[in-house]
Amino acid sequence: MSNDPLLELRDIHTGYGPIEVLKGISLEVRTGEIVTIIGANGAGKSTTLMTVSGMVPVRRGEVRFQGERLTGVAPHRIVELGLSQVPEGRRIFPRLTVLENLEMGAYTRRDPNGVAADLDKMFHRFPILSERKEQLGGTLSGGEQQMLAIARALMARPRMLLLDEPSLGLAPLFVSKVFRILRELNREGVTVLLVEQNARMALKTAHRGYVLETGQITMADAAATLLADSRVQDAYLGK
Ligand SMILES: Nc1ncnc2c1ncn2[C@@H]1O[C@H](COP(=O)(O)OP(=O)(O)O)[C@@H](O)[C@H]1O
Ligand SMILES: [Mg+2]
Repeated sequence: MSNDPLLELRDIHTGYGPIEVLKGISLEVRTGEIVTIIGANGAGKSTTLMTVSGMVPVRRGEVRFQGERLTGVAPHRIVELGLSQVPEGRRIFPRLTVLENLEMGAYTRRDPNGVAADLDKMFHRFPILSERKEQLGGTLSGGEQQMLAIARALMARPRMLLLDEPSLGLAPLFVSKVFRILRELNREGVTVLLVEQNARMALKTAHRGYVLETGQITMADAAATLLADSRVQDAYLGK
């Protein structure tokens, strides 16, 4: 783990129409880390990720990735720079096959041989997708769709993955599978920013965490410290 921030948000303000959702948030993710943002429904977690991936414009403040400003950079270009998002609700293409969904994940790449090799890797890592290559995405179970959404994001060969509620609505078996995959990917060098309502699993998996409350960061610490904090326990861990 190095010390240079791979991703840095400085005093980000943004919102929708007249409503300000993020009220000046600052955070950083260093190379090699798993960082989680926990917070209640409506706190602004998805808005934070969408701001990083360029889907929601920044009103004030700046986002930097590998030292480069992302403000005003188009979403597809942000993917090319190495930041790939797994959106809330998976958003796979229901009428495309598993294979076609994965190919869509590589749409910014111009190295067909590399793409073919990565497809093989994905089918090896996610055997369930290999068995269902020709099946339409929309006919997969929720857990299988989440595997597909993660694999699709990986097809862009990201340095960093942004994940929005990857465990939401999944059966317990798939929940632990998702977190296990995140740890594996991280060991292989992928830096992770994870948004979760399952705060317990997220804090057990992450190195550090931030607590987001109505558009402001109220706590930032080592994940283990947050897990042991009575305020976090009362508000988010339902002890
Ligand atoms: N497209 C949108 N248009 C208007 N308001 C939105 C939109 N998306 C989210 N919001 C509002 O922004 C706030 C934060 O939402 P969100 O970032 O989705 O929170 P979280 O992911 O933490 O649940 C909520 O009040 C939500 O209603
Ligand atoms: Mg959300």
